[in-house]
Amino acid sequence: MPEASAPGSLRPAGPCAIVIFGAAGDLTKRKLLPALYNLKVNGLLPRELAIAGVTRKEKSHEQFRAEQSQDMRDFATQAVDEALWSELRQGLYYQAGEFTDPATYPKLAALLEEVARTHRTGGNVLFYLAVPPSFFAEIAERLGAAGLLREAEGAWRRVIIEKPFGRDLESARELNARIGGVVKESQVYRIDHYLGKETVQNLLVFRFANGLFEPIWNRRYIDHVQIKVAETVGVEDRGNYYETAGVLRDMIQTHMFQLLALVAMEPPISFEADAVRDEKVKVLRAIRPMTPGEVLQQAVRGQYGEGRLGDQPVPGYRSEPKVSPISATETYAAVKLFVENWRWAGIPFYLRSGKRLATRDTEIMIQFRQPPLMLFEEAAARQIDPNRLVLHIQPDEGIEIQIKAKRPGPAVALTTVKLDFSYKDFGDTGAATGYERLLHDIMVGDGTLFHRADMVEAAWTVATPILDSWQSLPPRDFPNYPAGSWGPAAADELIQRDGRTWWGSSPSEAAPGLTRS
Ligand code: BG6
Repeated sequence: MPEASAPGSLRPAGPCAIVIFGAAGDLTKRKLLPALYNLKVNGLLPRELAIAGVTRKEKSHEQFRAEQSQDMRDFATQAVDEALWSELRQGLYYQAGEFTDPATYPKLAALLEEVARTHRTGGNVLFYLAVPPSFFAEIAERLGAAGLLREAEGAWRRVIIEKPFGRDLESARELNARIGGVVKESQVYRIDHYLGKETVQNLLVFRFANGLFEPIWNRRYIDHVQIKVAETVGVEDRGNYYETAGVLRDMIQTHMFQLLALVAMEPPISFEADAVRDEKVKVLRAIRPMTPGEVLQQAVRGQYGEGRLGDQPVPGYRSEPKVSPISATETYAAVKLFVENWRWAGIPFYLRSGKRLATRDTEIMIQFRQPPLMLFEEAAARQIDPNRLVLHIQPDEGIEIQIKAKRPGPAVALTTVKLDFSYKDFGDTGAATGYERLLHDIMVGDGTLFHRADMVEAAWTVATPILDSWQSLPPRDFPNYPAGSWGPAAADELIQRDGRTWWGSSPSEAAPGLTRS
């Protein structure tokens, strides 16, 4: 199979070397290598490319290549073309070394000089820290001390880290300061795989390429916004990490705050990375942090107990591997936030996410206000559904608008119909890991879809008071929802107190009626 030419306006990335710290881990085999291969298939990788794995164990380049070939067979998202893979494979290198050992770095420098000569990578290097967060700052500092982050003679050096970016405001500031001590902010790419998802990127297009919605995208026409990330998986074998995180840190402070920022941001002055990020950070800064009293009213936490998923009995969180039998870690959270600016003052944003919920479902629902006067008698007599705009992010990507229509027949009977669009309508959009776009953006130096230091700190400014309150008041009712349910009853009360209900908690709430495209 020949490489395709690059789609749309995307151009192949320029020459570079990619260094992956922690190349023996899951991320490399499940996401990074398959994503690089997919980029190769799409003609988006440079021919002048080398990829160096760094881990503790001694092994030869050839051994590393053989292992990666096996992983590709297991984890590629499409059939692997031998000729294309072998081109990538011959650019694979390996460097053994402890991340904390200063001696690792001169060896890495020597390897990078060698690949710069053999693969003509031009001295451009992307350092991907696919390692536990406790190593981020130290690796960056050691790379800096070894001179590996210096950008000279037009060559670039970039550092990529994965969340969590700290575990509260203070630790995030410290991490940012340490990394900022060795590189410029523009060299740092804090990756968020949610921002690589098609529908998430489509949010910008939806909002800013259509004139239809902008006039009503504000507090005058919108009643409230709901953002939901429901997962059916439990913590799997990530108990160690999850016990230090919980869903507020793992999902809400990161991915979901980004979704909120995309929904609520003002139009940027351009699609330059900083123009977009300037608007996003303003939204995060406009979210009012909760007082301890408000945390009791506006935030609910939960933890799953044993239950059933479909026909399968599943254990409770406290019985999962590497989890404390008296764990107070939350696997579910619902919060009500206010973005206090002119566009959104007084409009609640309800965010909820949980593990082991009834179905896997990520969506954003924007509910509009009711018409000022209900002229239809039948409708006036009962509460009718308002207009809603639903952005489906996964598993099925698409957009749906719910409107009222007359049911055919002699009586004026109202029903809800959907105008909808599904990404499937585009046909096969290609197998992807979600990392393709993000890796390509890093190689071409586009930081739009990445967290900036000030965004991280603004997000922690909102999340930390909730975490602090929870910490000082340990939960007394955990586990408080059975696996396979829609979360704790207190979450329903949180929204019902406002005279509203969760959208899409159960299949029976999906809009009945016709589907029109
Ligand atoms: C990760 C979280 O960032 O996102 C996981 O650490 C979570 O706990 C995952 O399961 C969800 O990602 P996705 O793409 O499956 O929604």
